[in-house]
Amino acid sequence: MHASSTLAIPEHAAVPRHLAIIMDGNGRWATQRFLPRTAGHVRGVQTVRRVVEVCGRRGVRYLTLFAFSSENWRRPQEEVSLLMRLFVQTLEKEVDKLNAQGVCLHVVGDLTAFEPRLQELIRAAEARTAANDALHLTICANYGGRWDILQATRRMLQARPELANDPQAINETALAPYLSMAYAPEPDLFIRTGGEQRISNFLIWQLAYTELYFTDRYWPDFNARDIDAAFEWYRTRERRFGRTSEQLASSA
Ligand code: FPP
Repeated sequence: MHASSTLAIPEHAAVPRHLAIIMDGNGRWATQRFLPRTAGHVRGVQTVRRVVEVCGRRGVRYLTLFAFSSENWRRPQEEVSLLMRLFVQTLEKEVDKLNAQGVCLHVVGDLTAFEPRLQELIRAAEARTAANDALHLTICANYGGRWDILQATRRMLQARPELANDPQAINETALAPYLSMAYAPEPDLFIRTGGEQRISNFLIWQLAYTELYFTDRYWPDFNARDIDAAFEWYRTRERRFGRTSEQLASSA
């Protein structure tokens, strides 16, 4: 298990070890060009490819992308179907390449809502890349931060029913192994493209001490220079994890 930012002080490196991204602005990118919103998602997949490559080269070890939130089912049926198709096509097309790049793929979220074929493809792609360790790429699909905390609580109580009678024993350390990204350290840097400045029910537990970076760039336009700008900004941040600046200076 990786250290929790509220229980221990994590290490701070020049490049974030774990980068989490909300990929926003696909629809507006398309609308600006008088294209259907779905064209923005198609371009968005190209950006995913680019970002995976750049992050691999820069030494990021964990990259987590919010592809489809629990709330995205509220979108027009046609757009939801296209996103699912894109997801299937991308998995079919990209798994070999990801595997060759040493990428270990994880898909987290409530996958039971997806059609069985997609669930099988996801499990097969995860199994295929399970031994890789160069970059852990997590796709959050039908994911919500509150869902994650609730599913973790349920699974914890199923595994350890005695905790129901001993609420004082329920602490972070007891719950953490059941969160869907228990295999990863908490994100060091969060990026949201598309100009909005909110977390939108993403990794709400894990983002407790993450540095938050917002850019107006739409996701289809997001490129290597934008990643480097975010990393440059990240390097300037003083990560105190609750301590004072003076404490930080004396511990350096
Ligand atoms: C947000 O843009 C984007 C999404 C809801 C979907 C993101 C999906 C992809 C980039 C493609 C699929 C990904 C994988 C990993 C295969 P928006 O539609 O909310 O844009 P808007 O705010 O401008 O309307």
